[in-house]
Amino acid sequence: MERRVGDVEKKGTAAVASLLEWEYAPAPEARDLVRFEERYGLYVGGEQVEPRSKQWFATTSPATEEQLAEVALAGTEDVDVAVAAARDAFENGWSSLEPSERAKYLFRIARILQERSRELAVAESLDGGKPIKESRDVDIPLAAAHFFYYAGWADKLEYAFPNRRPRPLGVAGQIIPWNFPLLMLAWKIAPALATGNTVVLKPAETTPLTALLFTDVCRQAELPAGVVNIVTGDGSTGAHLVKHAGVDKIAFTGSTEVGKAIQRELAGTGTRLTLELGGKAANIVFDDCALDQAVEGIVNGIYFNQGHVCCAGSRLLVQESIYEPLVAKLKRRLTTLRVGDPLDKNTDVGAINSRAQLEKIRELVASGEEEGAEIYQPPCVLPEKGYWFAPTVFTNVAQSYRIAQEEIFGPVLSVLTFRTPEEALEKANNTAYGLSAGVWTEKGSRILWMAQRLRAGVVWANTYNRFDPTSPFGGYKESGFGREGGRHGLEPYLRFDE
Ligand code: NAI
Ligand code: MG
Repeated sequence: MERRVGDVEKKGTAAVASLLEWEYAPAPEARDLVRFEERYGLYVGGEQVEPRSKQWFATTSPATEEQLAEVALAGTEDVDVAVAAARDAFENGWSSLEPSERAKYLFRIARILQERSRELAVAESLDGGKPIKESRDVDIPLAAAHFFYYAGWADKLEYAFPNRRPRPLGVAGQIIPWNFPLLMLAWKIAPALATGNTVVLKPAETTPLTALLFTDVCRQAELPAGVVNIVTGDGSTGAHLVKHAGVDKIAFTGSTEVGKAIQRELAGTGTRLTLELGGKAANIVFDDCALDQAVEGIVNGIYFNQGHVCCAGSRLLVQESIYEPLVAKLKRRLTTLRVGDPLDKNTDVGAINSRAQLEKIRELVASGEEEGAEIYQPPCVLPEKGYWFAPTVFTNVAQSYRIAQEEIFGPVLSVLTFRTPEEALEKANNTAYGLSAGVWTEKGSRILWMAQRLRAGVVWANTYNRFDPTSPFGGYKESGFGREGGRHGLEPYLRFDE
């Protein structure tokens, strides 16, 4: 059973109809590349253990709502045991290991991730709903690249920070979200281990499976027991980890709301903290840009990973003189996006990660319509089961609308206009967030002028959503603080003689 959503606009109906007639053959990636256990315990001290909490919860596929596995819900005692295992591994071996030996483990992990990349990509797409072409071409290769990159730093810390005697902190508690599960694990674990720390990591409740498969990667790499511990659970598990007195550093990626609560909790404790939170990035298109290239960048900026991206280009700022041709091209491009089965290699937009997230997107989209913005969705067929949302563009958006202010974290773009670079800048910076921005123009001088004035941690020029382990990533304002990636990404895991 299939149903249609979105209205075919009167204009261009014929063109759209001809596009719909053109059918793709299914191109499914093999589901059986990965086999999940029925139940996963916690990974503590190098072993799978039953949770002392005796609690479990299910993780499902958001595309089909089928249950994939049951995982443990770690309670206070479970977190205690995991932190103790990490402390033990830190004191008794890992922190005093030759840095070049530490590097060998990280290189091994990187290579195993590459060897098992197809299996991990399928697992990621099943558990989280993202298109297989993204998990295969972006998430898993970048996760491996992070381990390779930080493996290289492990025995060169003295050169990264000359005359500062860099030393590890101890046990790092790491809490990650559901939008890039294995990649966020890599962003957290690779620099922590390279600098000689041990970790307790908590994956998000809807996407724990690649972190649990990663425990098998650690086993294959013969990583010493207790260096990596994985505690699955929900927000309460995360909160236990944050409050734990035995943790020296917390690294959190997730919502601004939870980030603020963590910062309040840790104020005055001396526990080190980095926060990577939400965003409402401006993707700014000037009239001298390469228009078709910009359209591709806009699409990649907001529809990549269903818009579940903290640095998504969710506010499109278009120079008035090219507004009409640009929006026409964008709408036409949207009709070619294929929404559906995440395991199909032709899918561009997969499933929304959870029912809760789908409800949040629906609520914000309804508010956009109520406040007076004009909605466009291309004609597309959404599966009956699972959580789906059609790619959406809002025009006629005022800066005060919720859809221009709040992070939607879905495939929803808000279009605003500007006349001068000054106005573009003012509008771009008019948000509580400051994670990223995009600038599209032929003029190099304008790119630099904008980049210097945009209050955003990352500014992409004539591209968008490009990631590289050598490049630091992080926010201004309510998007958080601290940097991940690059040499900067080592610093939050080190202390120095000042
Ligand atoms: P969340 O912030 O609740 O979840 C992120 C992680 O934090 C999960 O592992 C969760 O279990 C954990 N967590 C939740 N409460 C905690 C607490 N009190 N102490 C410690 N850890 C805790 O985000 P949620 O509810 O999944 O998504 C809500 C919104 O947050 C999204 O719609 C999106 O706007 C934003 N978000 C931003 C992300 C980013 O990459 N910056 C990632 C995920 C969500
Ligand atoms: Mg899941």
